[in-house]
Amino acid sequence: MLLGGSVRRQLEPEATGMTHSTGPSGERLRRYWDKSAKSYDREMALFERVLLADGRQWACSQASGDVLEIAIGTGRNLPFYPPDVRLTGIEFSPAMLEIARERASAVGRQVELRLGDAQALDLPDSAFDTVLCTLSLCAIPDERRAIAEMKRVLRPGGRLVLVDHVAGSPAWVRAVQWLLELITIPLGGEHFRRRPLRVVQAEGFVVETSQRAKLGIVERVLARKPVQAAT
Ligand SMILES: C[S@@+](CC[C@H](N)C(=O)[O-])C[C@H]1O[C@@H](n2cnc3c(N)ncnc32)[C@H](O)[C@@H]1O
Repeated sequence: MLLGGSVRRQLEPEATGMTHSTGPSGERLRRYWDKSAKSYDREMALFERVLLADGRQWACSQASGDVLEIAIGTGRNLPFYPPDVRLTGIEFSPAMLEIARERASAVGRQVELRLGDAQALDLPDSAFDTVLCTLSLCAIPDERRAIAEMKRVLRPGGRLVLVDHVAGSPAWVRAVQWLLELITIPLGGEHFRRRPLRVVQAEGFVVETSQRAKLGIVERVLARKPVQAAT
């Protein structure tokens, strides 16, 4: 091993549930995403080709019934949903949401788009059959609160579908991610070393699928809210 114990511990993923984001919050974060909205689609194209592969298609193909997409961004998943789902999307940034609105109309997709905070959803308990979130648990300041909210709004037995970039498997990858975070967390609250799967497990979901690819950096998770779960 190239790395000493204390350095290695520093490079461990955050999502043991014990650490908090130190990035921007509230208005600053919203301004960051509003400013990023215009270039977001262009910038995502390369990332999607190299790392995400068919992640969006996979995620949307798991959705059924009443579906809530958290942090829908510019609506890049919209073309991939099955035609018969009833879709609601929430998003923090009005500028991102506006592009999602344009995309929904371009692809002919009915969707209720709402401004909202993933950490405090203005939605009733047990209202959705599927909750889906792609590439956003890395950006939402408190991913544990967001996952707890996802659980609250899911019906018992409902499906949680996540795709995100997470802490890589090799230590050298996490070292690079740690370096990146020195810039990306203060700049726009973007985390690279989170492990949403651990939070999902801690919340009591039943994990049906978890797959990691690309040096462990990209993770797909499919989990069910237990039928007996307390919300
Ligand atoms: C990297 S983008 C991902 C967008 C989209 N999910 C996708 O797959 O392309 C992260 C998104 O999370 C949104 N976001 C950040 N914090 C949020 C919060 N607390 N509630 C809702 N959305 C949030 C940002 O506005 C941004 O649109």
